Amino acid sequence: MSNIGSYEERAKGFSWSVSENELGYRDGNVINIGWHCTDRICEQGKASKLALVWEGHAGAEKRFTYNDIRLASNTIGAFLRGLGIQAGERVCLFMDKIPELYLGFLGILKIGAIAQPLFSAFGDESLFVRLSDAETSAVVTQKKHALKVRKILDRLPHIKHLIIVDHDGASPLKDREVAFSLEKAAPVEHLDIHPTTAESPSVLHYTSGTTGMPKGVQHVHYSLVSQVLTAKWVLDLRDDDIYWCTADPGWVTGTSYGIIAPFAMGVTQCVMDAGFSAEAWYRFIEKRRITMWYSAPTAIRSLMMAGDKIVGKFDLSSLRHLASVGEPLNSEAVVWSQKVFGKPFYDTYWQTETGCIVISNYPGMEVRPGSMGKPFPGITGTILDPNRNEPYPFHGKIGLVAFRFDWPSRMRTYWNNEEAFRKKFRNGWYITGDRARIDKDGYYWFVGRDDDIINTAGHLVSPFEVESALLEHPAVAESAVVSKPDPLNLEVVKAFINLKPGFTASKDLDLEIMNFVRKKLSPLAMPQEIEFVDSLPKTRSGKIMRRILHAREWGEEIGDTSTIEND
Ligand code: PRX
Repeated sequence: MSNIGSYEERAKGFSWSVSENELGYRDGNVINIGWHCTDRICEQGKASKLALVWEGHAGAEKRFTYNDIRLASNTIGAFLRGLGIQAGERVCLFMDKIPELYLGFLGILKIGAIAQPLFSAFGDESLFVRLSDAETSAVVTQKKHALKVRKILDRLPHIKHLIIVDHDGASPLKDREVAFSLEKAAPVEHLDIHPTTAESPSVLHYTSGTTGMPKGVQHVHYSLVSQVLTAKWVLDLRDDDIYWCTADPGWVTGTSYGIIAPFAMGVTQCVMDAGFSAEAWYRFIEKRRITMWYSAPTAIRSLMMAGDKIVGKFDLSSLRHLASVGEPLNSEAVVWSQKVFGKPFYDTYWQTETGCIVISNYPGMEVRPGSMGKPFPGITGTILDPNRNEPYPFHGKIGLVAFRFDWPSRMRTYWNNEEAFRKKFRNGWYITGDRARIDKDGYYWFVGRDDDIINTAGHLVSPFEVESALLEHPAVAESAVVSKPDPLNLEVVKAFINLKPGFTASKDLDLEIMNFVRKKLSPLAMPQEIEFVDSLPKTRSGKIMRRILHAREWGEEIGDTSTIEND
């Protein structure tokens, strides 16, 4: 029997108090994610239970019990406090998936500061816009990533400390730099937990916007209530599970379900900090006896491409439940997983802004391959008619995916950008930016995004950010960035570029520009294809019409161009 039992029964008379009670939370009391994920589990008698099993490159391994993660997060919290970090200040985590990332996250929350995780493959420009917007006070990083921060430090007066977790003394520390070693630091047995309450800010994740720079999605400690219940009813997490979430905590899946929910439930989780290969992933599942596996469609498609034969080389019988998030999960992937693992991947849908799973397939409920499933109990979703901003009165119509924005882990605002936050609502409905339809039984079917944002391998990329980076290259006069279809990543970034006089298109220039974007932004944002053009389609007022280029890439009707953009 699954945790959720019957979806219909759970949805009847639903209240979040189910979860509040399990967490021992009463309205108005202190709630602190860092404490709930460590001290509380120890108080429940699970101090010696394994919390985190970490595996690095070349098979290096570290194991932490719940008491270990309690002490480590205390130690990091005390260190930050000692540096003068106050509640509410932003502390960025800019690291590979090493234990300090997970433990640092909890330590930051324990002292009431705001954790700002950033993907370690970000280049200096991606880093700069996010650190300057958040006015971040400290960055916790590794030697190899510190170089990128140093490059922009002069432009970031708010940063008081650059904390290096693997400083070996070989090169001297520079201005504002300080070394911290978790292994060498004296463990802090007692830390005064900052008395955060439900609405105290907790995590700040940056997400791409269509027309502007990335926006900081601000979450609060009360998010725990829906993160835990969704992990229980959707991921079906249980006390004896060995859980593997493949997401990086630079992205929201890696924090909501890669740190917060599993630890707050006292589950043992495994982390693999190594590149992707089908062999390595299957070996990891076999060796660690993974029971619950939360992954993403691009990874699943890569495993499919690696073939069925390789699956047979490993004992994957420990797997009990599988789920996926981040991009459309094609029905072939669901059918394939049923064939090779004996169970389907359950698709789940949500966003950085929603903070937790909002539409999902549930254990025990019929899976319709290709569908995202149904809204989580207590969450009201709909398909909005974009012309009336009202839900369609009947099923089957494609419209905007929208929600009544009222569950615990919804974002509270965009950092320093209340106006952008307000723009996400129409008639009281929160607009996700996605399009879908609902079938007659209430299942949601994803259709596509309703804006220009590119979802490549489950990562959102803003064409605006890539175009801005391209314009900084000396050869680029103007550019337009759209997605193009890709069998593995579903979409990849393509750039149309009009060169400045004196520059000619060549393979070398092509590669140089690609690399320029990779270094400035990230490997995900790097155009996989560049097409040099003499001019770009524009409205009469000079605005570039990305949609014409997009339609051409996807072989779609271009339609009436006069209505595509307002000029
Ligand atoms: O377009 C949807 C897509 O990913 C977007 C959210 O991206 P992000 O904020 O980075 O969070 C990703 C992980 C929670 C959505 O607006 N998306 C997410 N899940 C699905 C999906 N598209 C189709 N099917 C899904 N299951």
